Amino acid sequence: MEFYFENIIGKSKAIRDVLEMVKKVAPTMATVLITGDSGTGKELIALGIHAHSDRKDKLFLPVNCGALPETLLESLLFGHMKGSFTGAFANQEGLFEKARGGTIFLDEIGEIPQHLQVKLLRALEAKEILPIGSTTPRHIDVRVLAATNRNLKKEVEESRFREDLYYRLNIMEIHIPPLCERPEDIPLLIDHLIKKHNPELRKNFQGIDEEVVRVLMSLPWKGNVRELDNVIEHTMILAEGDRITLKDLPASIVTSGQATPAFTYNLKDALRHFEKQHITRVLDQVGQDRREAAKLLDISLSSLYRKIEELEID
Ligand SMILES: Nc1ncnc2c1ncn2[C@@H]1O[C@H](COP(=O)(O)OP(=O)(O)O)[C@@H](O)[C@H]1O
Ligand SMILES: [Mg+2]
Repeated sequence: MEFYFENIIGKSKAIRDVLEMVKKVAPTMATVLITGDSGTGKELIALGIHAHSDRKDKLFLPVNCGALPETLLESLLFGHMKGSFTGAFANQEGLFEKARGGTIFLDEIGEIPQHLQVKLLRALEAKEILPIGSTTPRHIDVRVLAATNRNLKKEVEESRFREDLYYRLNIMEIHIPPLCERPEDIPLLIDHLIKKHNPELRKNFQGIDEEVVRVLMSLPWKGNVRELDNVIEHTMILAEGDRITLKDLPASIVTSGQATPAFTYNLKDALRHFEKQHITRVLDQVGQDRREAAKLLDISLSSLYRKIEELEID
């Protein structure tokens, strides 16, 4: 069987490793814990696992465990019986049953309240659930995938997350590193996002200028791929013509891009950027006292003058 991940973009070692794991774990029934910061693609990877399993023709049901009050979350996951609480007007099947034959994706699993952690452990171990207000356990047939942007191990150490549940969920962990640790994926993602947004926005961008890509590669992307996606969409809405150029980028982005050196693969250029940044920082620290800065940098005053000239430090 061949595996294609046409919608999961990336050529970094990190992403290739992730896809390798997905390929191995997908056909099994194993529970997988997907970790990584918000916007790194955890849900996309979960969907990839489902899509490459023999459950792919059945439901994939994502649930955000952090978004609902406890009783609602319990009822959503496990179901309830008529009259079991105010507002329970009829029997309601929970997602663990609705997803039969398929996959349930428990997003933000670190947020799940203690009492539901016990019920979840039982669901995983005994493959049984108990709807609210019922005394008859029901068998379930569902693959469980979970994700978190918290450090669950630390949550366990601080007694906020049950250790037994942690080990039950963490049979396999797939970690997706933040985008800033894999800038080589950014150009591919940009192309992918342009192609994705062109039809929705009724635009026809053919590409993006190299210098824009370099600025985008140098940004911290705290919101990871989701943030990159927003910036590309925003830029495409406002830009005209058939290529995205530097002047099309939102001003706020360009400024933050200048704060850090533009990303470059070239070692000499990278060193030059670093030298400039380092010397500027030292000069700032000593209130532009060049003699003092030269001492700290452990170079002669004349070398410092030469560097300031060469690197165009003002
Ligand atoms: N490697 C990737 N290739 C293509 N799109 C990606 C990739 N990673 C993330 N995305 C996109 O970024 C957005 C956020 O991804 P998502 O899976 O919701 O992140 P998370 O669940 O970690 O917050 C989605 O639109 C998703 O399709
Ligand atoms: Mg998510």
